[in-house]
Amino acid sequence: MKETLVDLLRCPLTKEKLTLEVYEREERTYGNTTISEIKSGLLTAPCGYLYPIVKGVPRLQVESFLEHDNFLRTHIKDYETLKKKIISEYDYVIKLAIKKNKKTKQSFGMEWNMFRHGKDTTWDFTKDSRKQRFLMEINVTEESLKGKRLFDVGCGNGVLTSGISEFGIETFGLDVSNSVEQAYIHNTNPNVHYIQGDLQLPPFASETFDIVYSTGVIHHTNNTELSFSCISGLTKKGGLLYVWLYRPEKDFKHNALNFTRAITNKFPIKVQYWLFLIFLVPQGLLKMRMRGKKRNWREQLIRDRKSVV
Ligand SMILES: C[S@@+](CC[C@H](N)C(=O)[O-])C[C@H]1O[C@@H](n2cnc3c(N)ncnc32)[C@H](O)[C@@H]1O
Repeated sequence: MKETLVDLLRCPLTKEKLTLEVYEREERTYGNTTISEIKSGLLTAPCGYLYPIVKGVPRLQVESFLEHDNFLRTHIKDYETLKKKIISEYDYVIKLAIKKNKKTKQSFGMEWNMFRHGKDTTWDFTKDSRKQRFLMEINVTEESLKGKRLFDVGCGNGVLTSGISEFGIETFGLDVSNSVEQAYIHNTNPNVHYIQGDLQLPPFASETFDIVYSTGVIHHTNNTELSFSCISGLTKKGGLLYVWLYRPEKDFKHNALNFTRAITNKFPIKVQYWLFLIFLVPQGLLKMRMRGKKRNWREQLIRDRKSVV
């Protein structure tokens, strides 16, 4: 995590500024530039809430402190007292967040941890083709992006977040899953930040970004309209908000997929992946081969999963 990020981050609950404590630093080299980044540390809100920085990524979810319990216990002397205080004040919110985010975290965490950075394509798109598509989608020139700030909400594997930064814009990728760990490791551009967070409780003040961009994300949340309202105010006045999502289709293929989903959703995530791998992936790979196109089994699995989630 770059130290400059602290000024922009806010407590997701109270929107107060956070105080940084650094435990460990690491030197990261981007081309000719070397930056001393924070590998592990702690962000504390005036309300007493604790947000750990683990593996270079700030964890800004209300349940993050529980997920990194051992890490915090090792670094904070009176952690148990602080933990009790947070739980007694925010018990309801914490339980709600855990329940709401659990499946999404597991499911997308597994998907993006399977993705091989630098080798696999994202739904058949290379980084460069996604960058060009991004420019077309939001209808801007590369030149006009320089010096601005973009928030990539639900950044997934982060390939696009890092790619967009190559246009000279500072990018901030947030995802609820731990996909941001791999995104951070594989990022080769200095003007990119990754945060683990929940878009329904964004860790930023309103009107922070010139562009708020979210593709293929908010229909995966428990309440699409609520999600839209949680991110729309993050755009500066006169800025740009771009949201892409898909609507339910009612044809035979989609009805069959919805039916399948209603059943497979009940299985543990790992079982779901095995089922896709056995029943969907071979068919898909065969179809691709017949069309003379190439896709590896990971890319096919990620594609197949996209059609059923
Ligand atoms: C289909 S992927 C799209 C990823 C990325 N936008 C892209 O186009 O490559 C959807 C992503 O949304 C993330 N997501 C779902 N609910 C979220 C939430 N409440 N807050 C943040 N991210 C969320 C998932 O973890 C997943 O990585």
